[in-house]
Amino acid sequence: MQLTGFDGRIALVTGAGGGIGRATVSALYDAGCTVVATDLPDMLNAAPQQHGVHLRPLDVTDAVAVDALVAEVEAELGPVELFAGTAGILSTQPIAELSAEEWHRVFDVNMHGSFHVTRAVARGMAARQRGAMVVVSSNAGGIPRLNMSAYAASKAALTMYVRCLGLELAPRGIRCNVIAPGSTLTPMQTGMWADASGAEAVIAGSLEGFKTGIPLGKLATSEDIANSVMFLLSEQAGHIAMADLYVDGGATLRG
Ligand code: NAI
Repeated sequence: MQLTGFDGRIALVTGAGGGIGRATVSALYDAGCTVVATDLPDMLNAAPQQHGVHLRPLDVTDAVAVDALVAEVEAELGPVELFAGTAGILSTQPIAELSAEEWHRVFDVNMHGSFHVTRAVARGMAARQRGAMVVVSSNAGGIPRLNMSAYAASKAALTMYVRCLGLELAPRGIRCNVIAPGSTLTPMQTGMWADASGAEAVIAGSLEGFKTGIPLGKLATSEDIANSVMFLLSEQAGHIAMADLYVDGGATLRG
């Protein structure tokens, strides 16, 4: 099966300089999209640098900047028909040591940032009755994780928000779906490892940490996640809306 629905379309990606974001930009570009790749200014040089990939600085926490960017892109390039949201931050602290500032910082990016961008993109899509969005949440949004309360709660909120958005937009023919990755080999994941045995430890799981291992016996690659994003954006997923697809090698023992 060949995935279709990309050629000549404009796709907006957030977090484009990160591991999953880079792979998603490349996959969309290879499928024939004109890609608008956005990230914080410092991270933009990590995004794929190709003709046909338009690099734009964007802090998703800035609602005014988000609206301005989407308006500018639609005026200059044309309608945004595909959106992939991958921007996100991790925070790992026990609740007793978690400051209110840190709690808000995590929600500002993971939840509020995604709200700003999907809302801006949804307005045009709804008016045109055409489009698809996939937001990358986390399997931590569906299972309690030690020392990850802010991250997991922000991702649980994000998942439900995107599903509500999907419900509002489905009557206009717009599909909104969620990908919930498990441990994926990116800077976000490796940043949590104490030493070179980090991957092995994650795959094995930890009884003290109340964490199952990964039944498939491997971490996800960024391409594994990007491929799932591509499927849900494609015409072949044309009857899938409001889904929350776990791509975690079975780590949460659910589908
Ligand atoms: P990453 O750290 O490589 O990439 C995240 C990107 O988001 C970075 O380029 C960063 O600059 C960008 N970002 C952060 N704050 C931003 C802001 N205010 N405005 C715009 N961009 C901002 O991480 P990775 O692994 O590629 O993560 C992508 C998504 O996948 C995230 O939402 C993450 O929560 C999720 N995820 C990752 C997992 C993993 O094991 N790597 C597991 C489950 C979910």
